[in-house]
Amino acid sequence: MNTLRVALDGPAGAGKSTVAKRVAQALGLTYVDTGAMYRAVTWKALHDQLDLSDAAGLTQLANQVQIDFKPTAAGQDVFLDGQDITEDIRTRDVTSQVSAVSAVAGVRLAMVEQQRNIAARTGVVMDGRDIGTVVLPNAEVKIWLTASVEERATRRYQELIDKGQEVDFEQLKLDIQRRDEYDSGREHSPMKMAEDAVLVDSTGLNIDQVIEEILHICRQIVAQKS
Ligand code: CDP
Ligand code: CDP
Repeated sequence: MNTLRVALDGPAGAGKSTVAKRVAQALGLTYVDTGAMYRAVTWKALHDQLDLSDAAGLTQLANQVQIDFKPTAAGQDVFLDGQDITEDIRTRDVTSQVSAVSAVAGVRLAMVEQQRNIAARTGVVMDGRDIGTVVLPNAEVKIWLTASVEERATRRYQELIDKGQEVDFEQLKLDIQRRDEYDSGREHSPMKMAEDAVLVDSTGLNIDQVIEEILHICRQIVAQKS
């Protein structure tokens, strides 16, 4: 099981990172949050006040930065060139610019190379938008995790309220829809379900139920292959 590669893709707020973390723990695999990698590059570009329409500049940046994950009890911390940026990459600023940065082909090439290098060393649960289609097309397990946009926005809203942030529900829902459209409409590696992925619709399911369903799919596939 510890060489298994699980590709977990889907739209914003579907529950990918929450579920991927716990599935990885349960199966003894390494969790790789590829969204955090695109967020890290975006954070650095904003921090350095780069021109976000300069594809060459963003590509150079993506090839220079060192992104590391360190596991913690709650999940994992994200470091860029040794600096802890776990909280910084979740700001609204980063969230609103990340789709534009991750649409740049050179940025994607740099991140995909790093993602494949990790998966070459260890079994993974990797979550993102293009894992089953581009990053790990031969992954043993491919899941497309989704939920209605209303439910995804409600989850995100609750998460931000719990953190004490002020949020407008309709604006949040629009932001999610806009990001999904951008991610699925881009030219390079658009967000899309792999043809051989299993669809898991988590609308109306709690986190434990989704994890159970995904673990069941993983175990079934492993049993079929052995
Ligand atoms: O957690 P949330 O759904 O808000 O997003 P994320 O997984 O942190 O990803 C942030 C953004 O990075 C996405 O909206 C995509 O633009 C981009 N991304 C991507 O292009 N490819 C991936 N494999 C992962 C994320
Ligand atoms: O990574 P992604 O954007 O797909 O979603 P997430 O950040 O894992 O989940 C977004 C929010 O939905 C988190 O606050 C989760 O706790 C919550 N969630 C939920 O309430 N029910 C689920 N079945 C899955 C996630």
